[in-house]
Amino acid sequence: MRMIGKAGKAAAIAAIAALAMTACGRAEPGTTSTTGAGGFEQNSSIGVALPQKTSENWVLAEKLFNDGLSGAGFKPDVQFANGGVSEQQNQISAMITKGAKVIIVGAIDGAQLGTQLKQAKDSGATIIAYDRLLLNTENVDYYVAYDNFKVGVLQGQALLDGMKAKKPTGPYNVELFAGSPDDANAKVFFDGAMSILKPKIDDGTLKVVSGQTTFEQAVTQGWKAENAQRRADTLLTGSYGTAALDGVLSPNDTLARAVLTSVKAAGKPLPIITGQDSEVESVKSILAGEQYSTINKDTRKLVEHAIVMVKDLQAGKTPEINDDKSYNNTVKTVPAFLLPPVIVTAANVKTAYVDDPVLGPLTK
Ligand code: BGC
Repeated sequence: MRMIGKAGKAAAIAAIAALAMTACGRAEPGTTSTTGAGGFEQNSSIGVALPQKTSENWVLAEKLFNDGLSGAGFKPDVQFANGGVSEQQNQISAMITKGAKVIIVGAIDGAQLGTQLKQAKDSGATIIAYDRLLLNTENVDYYVAYDNFKVGVLQGQALLDGMKAKKPTGPYNVELFAGSPDDANAKVFFDGAMSILKPKIDDGTLKVVSGQTTFEQAVTQGWKAENAQRRADTLLTGSYGTAALDGVLSPNDTLARAVLTSVKAAGKPLPIITGQDSEVESVKSILAGEQYSTINKDTRKLVEHAIVMVKDLQAGKTPEINDDKSYNNTVKTVPAFLLPPVIVTAANVKTAYVDDPVLGPLTK
């Protein structure tokens, strides 16, 4: 869904700012609105609808939202929807009933919440898409996330760099894994990676031995480790025989570890494999020389920024955005605040997490 290409972004943002200075009633980012909604009571309920606990970042977010929102004087209502989409729909409805002024949504399926988001908007709430974009709806006000396309670009480049460092010339045998097709991020990660890998597939540097090169063929339903492991087992048995597997594009750490388990069981040398999320086990794996890379998307910074947006809205200010072009949800381009993801390999693993209370001590 992402509209690629950031050319003209600065000009567009300047145009928005200029518009804000005119009498059209939009406040300049970060300034007090004169004709805006006028904010809301500080001790208001703030809903946070999180998906399933498919990776550590979501588990971390729960505590950070509870602590951060309470610390700022709000009443947090943070819910996980481990039971699936209908549970998340019900949770958002309950947040509306409780009078939430802002509802922050990390969607399981960003295209299945249209009814609840409309009800939320009708109730006067502001909707912030968190980490994953909300699709096919006009009822989403802001998006706060790490730049997902960039995540994919970094993964694709790391895969090439890692293989080249191990074996200077190709061709390289690779396989491609993607995330869950209901998560709007999964395709964006894949597209970002393919922007780097596709030219190398086309020129023969990379050989996808299974022939499975499309997103649909690469997906991992529910971001579940067992699904990735099963697919890796099938690929190794069906397509590899005695051939080496040089590299694997994995969209996150959980799936990277699942693929490595499969390769070990097949008795093959470990491939260069990418990841994402800086999960404890994967950072240990990088230190041990097994997983090649991960991505640092510090959850503390993302939650902190979502809370900054809530505070602005509470004070009647327009939250700051830094991207108004990239994330189109098919109905609108959602004003976004994007944070930069950072690639981590053995080369920088000892410095990447200096500020992280868990990973810092682990990587010293
Ligand atoms: C997040 C990733 C995470 C995945 C599975 C995605 O939407 O952006 O960081 O690995 O969900 O939980």
